[in-house]
Amino acid sequence: MKPPSQGNATGFVPPPYPHDRLDDLRAVAAAVDGGVIDCSIGTPVDPMPDAVLRALSDAAPGSTGYPFTIGSPAYREAAAAWIGRRFDVGVTAAEVMACIGTKELVAGLPRLLSLRDPSRDTVLYPGVSYPTYAMGAQLAGLRAAPVPVDSEWRLDLAAVDPDDAGRALLLWLNDPSNPTGVTATPDEMQASVAWAHDHGAIVASDECYAEFTYDASGAAAEPVTALHAATDDVLVVHSLSKRSNMAGLRAGFMAGDSELVTYLGEVRKHGGMMVPAPVQAAAAAALADDDHVEVQRERYAARRARLLPALEAWGLVHDGGPSTFYLWLRNAGGDEDGWSVAARLAQTGALVAPGDLYGPAGSQHVRLAMSITDEQVETTVKRLEGAR
Ligand SMILES: Cc1ncc(COP(=O)(O)O)c(C=O)c1O
Repeated sequence: MKPPSQGNATGFVPPPYPHDRLDDLRAVAAAVDGGVIDCSIGTPVDPMPDAVLRALSDAAPGSTGYPFTIGSPAYREAAAAWIGRRFDVGVTAAEVMACIGTKELVAGLPRLLSLRDPSRDTVLYPGVSYPTYAMGAQLAGLRAAPVPVDSEWRLDLAAVDPDDAGRALLLWLNDPSNPTGVTATPDEMQASVAWAHDHGAIVASDECYAEFTYDASGAAAEPVTALHAATDDVLVVHSLSKRSNMAGLRAGFMAGDSELVTYLGEVRKHGGMMVPAPVQAAAAAALADDDHVEVQRERYAARRARLLPALEAWGLVHDGGPSTFYLWLRNAGGDEDGWSVAARLAQTGALVAPGDLYGPAGSQHVRLAMSITDEQVETTVKRLEGAR
């Protein structure tokens, strides 16, 4: 007998991927003489450090066996040492777990935490944020509840519906924030962690832009971390993608509460979630070096200093914080929908992401990623000047 057809399945249908919605804008920008300059995705374009490339190729021949899911001792130790250096907080290698870049972790964490605690069914995440926080809740069959943000894009936890707060499995924080560039003060971070704990929720603090923390003058500033507030029921998420331009290699890690790290490591081991061994070696080498990060931090600061005045002269204003390598722009003259701003920018050849991709409160904004080459920065500036 034939098995019943699955042709009428009525389950989850993935929505269009946010950046795939930009195809029409891309076509407009591509028609500009010299072609499109893609500022819509935070995908690094600058080189990886030589030490990373060496470690990658040196480790490849010996990588005949399966790597550790949780991460090699060398990778975990390098990550723990970096956290100690960068944030002045003590974490041991046993409190670190590797992930295959952090997007898969962000998308998968709610599912794994809900296996551990099925009594809670809600994931809280910043109301203007990286779309994968909400998607991770959806993929887990949980409720995704955005935390309202105030006029400075800061979390307004007091405005969370008490029902959502009582059902919260997890509170996502993202510091510095994609897309707004805002960084919490240490007191705000402390208050967010305390709020989550008062409501019995785990904190997952995505700090993957920590190395690109700047003050209002554009100078490098100390990053904040949720680990300063607590370790119990706190996990921090870090990536090598932005810090060391390794997005194509897929390396990240999570650290914090040792019981949670052990649990997640065990479950992920059953799922075969392994970072390739040469990539782990390359990531350990990257984490041991801070000089290349300083160079990258200066590159983004220089790009901001060049691009922002040109965008301002063109009629936009940056309406976010000084950190990350994103500009969070809106029309300086008044209300204009973000898709309209993006359409006008596309006519100059610049492709940006309309702000509603990050939540309805971003509907009048666009996000411009400064992960473009210096040459592309110059072209963009010239094009904007020509279009005034
Ligand atoms: C806030 C945030 N978290 C996580 C990621 C995922 O980065 P990756 O998977 O490369 O580590 C990104 C990527 O842009 C991001 O912006």
